[in-house]
Amino acid sequence: MNKVDAQARIAYLSKEIEKHNTLYYDQSAPLISDFDFDMLLEELQKLELEFPDLKLPDSPTQRVGGSISKTFEQFIHKRPMLSLGNTYSQEELRDFDQRVKKFANVDEVEYVCELKYDGVAISLIYEEGVLTKAVTRGDGVKGDVVTNNIKTIRSIPLRLSGNAIPRELELRGEILIPKAEFIKLNAEREELGESPFANPRNSASGSIKMQDSAEVAKRPLECFLYYVLTEDLLFDSHYQSLEFAKKIGFNVPNTMARYPSIEGVFDFIQDWTEGKEQLDFEIDGVVVKVNDFALQKKLGFTAKSPRWAIAYKFKAERAETRLVSVSFQVGRTGAITPVANLEPVQLAGTTVKRASLHNADIMEQLDIRLNDWVYVEKGGEIIPKIVGVNTNRRQVDSIAFEYINVCPECGTKLVRKEGEANHYCPNELACPPQIKGRLEHFISRKAMNIDSLGEGKVEMLFDAGLVQTLADLYSLKASDLLGLEKKFTNEEGEVTKTLSLREKSVDNILNGIENSKTMPFEKVLFALGIRYVGETTAKKIAKHFKSLEAIAAANMETFIAVDEVGEKIAQSVVDYFKGEEQQKELARLKEAGLQFQIEESTHFVSDVLNGKSFVVSGIFSQPRDRIKELIEQNGGKNVGSISAKTDFVLAGENMGPAKLKKAETLGIRIISETEFFEMIEN
Ligand code: IVH
Repeated sequence: MNKVDAQARIAYLSKEIEKHNTLYYDQSAPLISDFDFDMLLEELQKLELEFPDLKLPDSPTQRVGGSISKTFEQFIHKRPMLSLGNTYSQEELRDFDQRVKKFANVDEVEYVCELKYDGVAISLIYEEGVLTKAVTRGDGVKGDVVTNNIKTIRSIPLRLSGNAIPRELELRGEILIPKAEFIKLNAEREELGESPFANPRNSASGSIKMQDSAEVAKRPLECFLYYVLTEDLLFDSHYQSLEFAKKIGFNVPNTMARYPSIEGVFDFIQDWTEGKEQLDFEIDGVVVKVNDFALQKKLGFTAKSPRWAIAYKFKAERAETRLVSVSFQVGRTGAITPVANLEPVQLAGTTVKRASLHNADIMEQLDIRLNDWVYVEKGGEIIPKIVGVNTNRRQVDSIAFEYINVCPECGTKLVRKEGEANHYCPNELACPPQIKGRLEHFISRKAMNIDSLGEGKVEMLFDAGLVQTLADLYSLKASDLLGLEKKFTNEEGEVTKTLSLREKSVDNILNGIENSKTMPFEKVLFALGIRYVGETTAKKIAKHFKSLEAIAAANMETFIAVDEVGEKIAQSVVDYFKGEEQQKELARLKEAGLQFQIEESTHFVSDVLNGKSFVVSGIFSQPRDRIKELIEQNGGKNVGSISAKTDFVLAGENMGPAKLKKAETLGIRIISETEFFEMIEN
């Protein structure tokens, strides 16, 4: 390559890598596979070596990865958080072993193998045995302080046990969400009309950067420990240090193994290449580390990574197939999801016929066209995805894809709200999948729990024209139902199930509907399926307003005053109650006898805090929500921020210094958790 071409290629690669860095680290929505990303980076590194004067001053090869969120306090790592050199080839792993042996002047080197957990790195700092700081990797030099969020993770000890704890100790590990929990989390997000996370890694990184640690606490995060750093060398080997970490309470996966030479490492790799699907968390390779600390110290570091370790990454399994068509699914909230229909292809032991295309932006970035040959990958991820297009096989006359602008189910013009990735069908009252989805949500276990209408029965009632709205359920009669029949078919049109209603199931259905009338108000509110109003939000709104009338009469401001209700939720609720059809529906549901208010007895248990306003901040021995509930049950009021009108600041552990200062300046009484309990117990 001549210099002019190299310059153009370097500029292109640098820009491209930066783009993918942002997509991966900041937007948690990677567009290409790790392998492809590494290939781009490697090509850039090679060109920069060949033409050093062309290297851009801010070349992405300088960075460890990621950027810093502006919303957290920042901390400069005492020792930078480096990345690992990586390889996809066993040959290169042998070269690594040769280099280490030559350097140490020995015949064999002892290695520790660990899995390469596919989550986000965290640095945990303990002083006098107490967790004082948890910092993300950030750009490798400085990261975000996310201590409060990290403290919500149960597998991270807040205080270390044992008597040999060094005064200062830093440990590093990986935060992740188990696969099964990830699936649950995404289902919940889709329920709320939020866009799902692309993979468990993104959901973990999104979670630890949330502003509200109470929300983080609801995420099933795990921490796997892989590195112990101390001021003094307390251990002889990495293996010993991890055994110590295990002993003092950390989660060090017992998949870790020690081998006297590189041969064992190859066995470990072989075992986990085959066994990785069985794990309940995601891995993207294996990390090989020199065990002996003295040798590690001698080998040292390059500017970016340790010379004593290397990551062997699994090549994502990929297949090439043709895109036959794109269909558009309409969810309960009207969100449109494009799905690629593919010519069936074998991939990692299963036949792939479909892959999610997420939204219009992703389709545009891929520049995907009908009949294109596309690459599909499963690489560790659960849902197969399209990672690229083989443009060499593209038909010359292919035309760019035009995203739909009307709903595929009801023909209504789609809308796209500012800042949202998904298109929506706004015809919520008459668009069939939205009605069906709403009915299914209404009867679901966490909502009205009418399980006698499950497994397709509610769909049958809708198809038969018996139920169009939620309230229609309460007008059903046995004579409407008896003898109803529905045949369910698969994609090939074969009948897979036939449902027909006889006396017994009709009785069950009607009883289930009748019993649902005793469901508490908060469940009814959740069951209505108002966008963004999940189970917890429904509970909060119900507790705050206590009746449907009060909610219907509330405005944006009053909603935002409710704990954890932001503008997006408030707007959605206000819009819902403004709707004429919704008002009619609610009147019919009330008429049917549903619970539209909280029973009086749960209002409060005393009035000792009558008229007093509280700001609750920090961490307590029990969930913050419970403390707030106690305030209300005793006649007090929770307010979001400190003002001259606040009566008390209830300060838990680690309350922010800014809040504390404000309270002191305004002369507001600051009380501890113990003092609070004394107040209400008296
Ligand atoms: S050791 C100085 N061990 O991979 C090297 N890292 O590319 C410290 N990772 O930032 C890293 N599993 O987030 C190490 N068993 C493991 C790991 C692991 C996952 C991640 C970690 C690190 C990245 C390096």
